[in-house]
Amino acid sequence: MAILPIRVFGDPVLRTVSAPVEEIDDRIKRLVEDMIETMYDAPGVGLAAPQVGVGRRIFVFDIQDDQGPRTVINPELVETSGEWEYDEGCLSVPEYFWPIIRPAWAVVRGLGLDGTEVQYGGDDLLGRVLLHEFDHLNGTLLLERLDRGARRKALRAIREAALG
Ligand code: NI
Repeated sequence: MAILPIRVFGDPVLRTVSAPVEEIDDRIKRLVEDMIETMYDAPGVGLAAPQVGVGRRIFVFDIQDDQGPRTVINPELVETSGEWEYDEGCLSVPEYFWPIIRPAWAVVRGLGLDGTEVQYGGDDLLGRVLLHEFDHLNGTLLLERLDRGARRKALRAIREAALG
């Protein structure tokens, strides 16, 4: 296992729509192991493959509910409902948190690492993580979930910080 460098805002891989996984081979299994280790090291509650530079439809998460790390390959968003504002962050835009409105409830279905179908759903942090990581696979960062005024302010803050 290895800790992989996490790509940060500005890296084009984060804006790219990831491709489906065609076969869960040893390379994919190793990637998932590394993603889990990288997520724990960060530390974070979720990590998507493009965040480690791999444009494949995979994400891992662990919301610290004693269920251990979980993997979703080729996820589909099955259901969402409601609306909830929550202070959200992203390992690819480190050290920032913004109040972001998303559905309050979400269900995602895909494949586990063993190739069998998995489905995860819930509200609160679980729903939030599922939606956030799913977005990464479509090249969407949390900034794009801000309204235009808030996004402009956020981008300015990021640029100013980058200039030191
Ligand atoms: Ni993120």
